[in-house]
Amino acid sequence: MTRRELLFDGNEKQVYATDDDKLVIFRFKDEITAYNNVKRAKLKDKGIITNAVSSLLFEYLKDRGVDTHFVERIGEREQLCRKICIIPLELIVRNRVAGTEAMRLGLPEGSEPASVILNLRYNNDTLGDPLINDTEACALGIATPADLKVVYSTGLRINTLLKDLFARAGIILADFKLEFGRASDGSIIVSDEISPDTSRLWDAQTLEKLDKDRFRLDLGDVADSYKKVYERLKAAVK
Ligand code: TYD
Repeated sequence: MTRRELLFDGNEKQVYATDDDKLVIFRFKDEITAYNNVKRAKLKDKGIITNAVSSLLFEYLKDRGVDTHFVERIGEREQLCRKICIIPLELIVRNRVAGTEAMRLGLPEGSEPASVILNLRYNNDTLGDPLINDTEACALGIATPADLKVVYSTGLRINTLLKDLFARAGIILADFKLEFGRASDGSIIVSDEISPDTSRLWDAQTLEKLDKDRFRLDLGDVADSYKKVYERLKAAVK
């Protein structure tokens, strides 16, 4: 597959056109950002690890019937994906309460809610990805009630599958973020990535953080923790 012009240059990823107008190439960079891009750094080979983790997880989901944009990993930093029309929503799926959600709800960091929490965010950097509810998403013309049903049910299904996989890897899937897009046939599919950059992952024994919180909170060993996640997942999918 030939890589053509750069379509999108994001903070941590680039998207390139290909010679097939239904397919794009995602390229994972070594940059890492947090707090709406206020905090930035470059970590050697981070893009290689996030591509490896995200490819493994999307393969795992594909094998279990979840429709995603992922086609195949085609290089250390690159994956071939279906071209989609972006839906500017983020679905946050939480098995444990952490970060600003813990403060917002007045709960201790790490507490386990009685059921899974789903938060919808409006994917808008200028506004800082604010929380949005269903009526707002529909009123802004971002999604229909039927679309949101698909978004929520897909999020829960993915959570069930990934929670189990991570548990076998000795990792608690505390939370993760999903993005969605509309495929050429109009169906809603999962897009973007799932990796330690877009989730909270805690060692099941020690509760050590193995995700981007290590960067947000200056805990060090960011890339090494990401590598640990990949090695454990690789062993768990076998
Ligand atoms: P978020 O809702 O932003 O913050 P908090 O949990 O502190 O209230 O984050 C929840 C999870 O989603 C966390 O693992 C980070 C991830 N996330 C992203 O990867 N990208 C994003 O743009 C957002 C908003 C969240």
